[in-house]
Amino acid sequence: MAPVTSLSASVTERLASALSAALPEAGSADPLLRRSDRADFQANGILALAKKAKANPRELATGVVSQVVTGDVIKDIEVSGPGFLNITLTDKAITENLAARYADPDRLGVPYADNPGTTVIDYAQPNVAKEMHVGHLRSAVIGDAAVHLLEFTGETVVRRHHIGDWGTQFGMLIQYLDEHPHELDHKDAQDAQVSGEEAMSNLDRLYKSARRLFDSDEEFKTRARRRVVDLQAGDPHTLATWQRFVDESKIYFFSVFEKLDMEVRDPDIVGESGYNDMLAETCRLLEESGVAVRSEGALCVFFDDVKGPDGNPVPLIVQKSDGGYGYAATDLSAIRDRVFNLKANTLLYVVDARQSLHFKMVFETARRAGWLGEDVHAVQLAFGTVLGKDGKPFKTREGETVRLVDLLDEAVERASAVVREKALDLSEEEIAERGAQVGIGAVKYADLSTSANRDYKFDLDQMVSLNGDTSVYLQYAYARIQSILRKAGDVRPAAHPELDLHEAERALGLHADAFAEAVTEAAAEYAPHKLTAYLYQLASLYTTFYDKCPVLKAETPQQVENRLFLCDVTARTLHRGMALLGIRTPERL
Ligand code: ARG
Repeated sequence: MAPVTSLSASVTERLASALSAALPEAGSADPLLRRSDRADFQANGILALAKKAKANPRELATGVVSQVVTGDVIKDIEVSGPGFLNITLTDKAITENLAARYADPDRLGVPYADNPGTTVIDYAQPNVAKEMHVGHLRSAVIGDAAVHLLEFTGETVVRRHHIGDWGTQFGMLIQYLDEHPHELDHKDAQDAQVSGEEAMSNLDRLYKSARRLFDSDEEFKTRARRRVVDLQAGDPHTLATWQRFVDESKIYFFSVFEKLDMEVRDPDIVGESGYNDMLAETCRLLEESGVAVRSEGALCVFFDDVKGPDGNPVPLIVQKSDGGYGYAATDLSAIRDRVFNLKANTLLYVVDARQSLHFKMVFETARRAGWLGEDVHAVQLAFGTVLGKDGKPFKTREGETVRLVDLLDEAVERASAVVREKALDLSEEEIAERGAQVGIGAVKYADLSTSANRDYKFDLDQMVSLNGDTSVYLQYAYARIQSILRKAGDVRPAAHPELDLHEAERALGLHADAFAEAVTEAAAEYAPHKLTAYLYQLASLYTTFYDKCPVLKAETPQQVENRLFLCDVTARTLHRGMALLGIRTPERL
């Protein structure tokens, strides 16, 4: 399917050529087109150009107007104020453009990016043997939306789930499991289907017992430390025990990702352990090139602008004085792998803003080492903290971190109540299914609708509310359209460009036509919130249209078909847009 040129792009093109006819030195200047309340669009670019050319802005604007051909797309263009242009489009152009999008149900005429590359995206990275919390939720939700958005623009996306599956804490766990070999056995060994819940509770119990012993028993501590060395040296028995922890944790991770209605593929889980073989070499290369130096036995990288509160430089520690490798060594090795083996042009990390200093130092180190050349972008898509209703970091009443699973279950429960209340003809099974789609959608949407770097309040009442900027509102708009289309029976949606449009139809149509711009911008800036804002506005404009313009009872059969067509274009746009955010749009609610 050929991409569809949006109306704003066609108008911009026409204005730009009129502009260069009226003022040749303007070249291909941007007339700066915006949607406007007074007309369909306003162009604000003439003022600055006139100033630059030392021309009178109103005269230049008048000159541009005289060069613009009106009729097919532009109905009316006039000068306003000091030199703005107000532009009104023909109804025909609006309907025809939407018809072209409608003919491409999957992409709605959205073009692919001009020069797609390869992005490695690091997201949804929980830690082995630990419960997932709201921070992991944000990384998963934002990362998943970024994956869909980028793939939609034609980018090759390699997903990497950099799980925390390596490090000194495993010595303690492995030693404990070896001494208590049945601690990870499943209640019903016959039952191949171990639940995520059971896996996590096993791990949690084991973690706590191991910790208790480690803190109280010096001899156990010594034995545990020895296991760290064995693990890093690749001792087969130690590795096999470690693998049991990873496998058990994956059962739990996959159960949470399934609850989140999110695809995570096993081969894309390349945790910290996956770079173990590279760590020594990474350190050697850094030391030989002088990028890292030994300081009090540790291998460190220093930065002029990174200092602690005492004014002393705070280094990035690549290798500790006891020889152990930490988080930084792993991330630096991962960069080498992603750039040289996976051939990434962009490295995107969806990680908590509290790790920003870490990434700043890691990226800078990799640049100095020559692993990140000028042609490779490294970006942290940093996200803020999830706050409770009280505005403080989200904790249980006992001050503990909230378990992600509990939150998700509660969201689904609340959503099911909302669905049940509204449902007229849904079975219990359907209510449960919709409840999950609405509840999980609500959680994702709340996360995606504020810009990632900001903190946001986790407020379930607000999230599942039918009014306001929520996914439920969008899902209802979609379901309402489906119900109209069903009621229309044999009358099918069809575009009738010859018809005059109501003001509410024009506003809806113009916005629907701007889908490509919204998607392109959201993808290019890694800003899913720009897409949620677009979709919310689309649903709001649809609501106004629905209030003002009868669809099935419109005046003529052509008008019925044309309004059904507007409904269906809106539905497809909502559906596609929500899918890019990882949110379902049920056909009935
Ligand atoms: N596992 C880490 C955490 O839970 C996040 C990993 C982020 N990714 C990375 N490449 N360091 O905080």
